[in-house]
Amino acid sequence: MPVVAVVNRKGGSGKSTIATHLAAWMAHQGCAVMLGDVDRQQSTRTWLKRRVPSVPAILPWTIDQKNVLKAPSGVTHVVLDTPGGLQGFELSRLVMQADAIVIPVCNSLFDRDSAASCHAELLAHPRVSSGRCKLGVVGMRIDARTRGAETLRQWAQERGMPFWGVLREAQVYVKTVENGLTLFDLPASAHEADLQQWQPLLAQLAPVMHLQLPATARLQVPSEELASAFSALDPAPENPPQAHILPARAKALMPAQGTLVHGDRFASFHTGK
Ligand SMILES: Nc1ncnc2c1ncn2[C@@H]1O[C@H](COP(=O)(O)OP(=O)(O)OP(=O)(O)O)[C@@H](O)[C@H]1O
Ligand SMILES: [Mg+2]
Repeated sequence: MPVVAVVNRKGGSGKSTIATHLAAWMAHQGCAVMLGDVDRQQSTRTWLKRRVPSVPAILPWTIDQKNVLKAPSGVTHVVLDTPGGLQGFELSRLVMQADAIVIPVCNSLFDRDSAASCHAELLAHPRVSSGRCKLGVVGMRIDARTRGAETLRQWAQERGMPFWGVLREAQVYVKTVENGLTLFDLPASAHEADLQQWQPLLAQLAPVMHLQLPATARLQVPSEELASAFSALDPAPENPPQAHILPARAKALMPAQGTLVHGDRFASFHTGK
């Protein structure tokens, strides 16, 4: 079962945006995909709850009676979102499970520095340096009126970092994520240019995830359905049935859960759920 993780120590770099979009892309390809957070804050769960039933389902971790995170049975693809600050042992645990890692990076000195040190730490792992875990960076929130894309491309090239394209700054990202949706859930014609920007990233991930391009295949969600999704933020019904059989790779991730915890997130997980 292929696993893609989205990693960057820097908070707000776009990890959850990428993770939710990748999960939706896979769901539209007909995959049984799970989107999970590797910290106990479980922030993408909030996004999943807002997802309307008319778009392809994405499953969350399930939580058993012992408060252990599990993958639902039947899951074939896994997308892992990670918290800012993930490094050291926790990062190593993640690398052991991932087949591909995406590093989103905004175009500022601080963001580039942070991404560079994250990349350097990842390269120290044999799984990454040998290519068993594929890795690349994506420029995030690039102002199309600037030379940001070119700056990032050059920066990545100088450091030998595979560069998997850029996504421009656009309100549609903010709006869709707020409503449990992604660009892949929207009618293609309305966001052609933005969807096009995902192609280099998806082309890199498709073979790892055993998927085929064209990656932009998606449902045409009825417009009234979308309109209500944008206005009403009704949470989707509580999640799928508890897992009985755990896919091997996702099961292997479970012991890491206890260690992939940052400070007070552990407490909020236990009191919140
Ligand atoms: N291309 C984009 N255009 C405009 N806004 C964007 C874009 N990508 C992400 N955002 C917005 O930037 C903010 C931060 O993105 P996101 O939550 O994905 O980052 P993160 O790395 O997951 O943050 P954290 O480290 O806090 O988990 C969000 O409000 C998101 O909607
Ligand atoms: Mg996030």
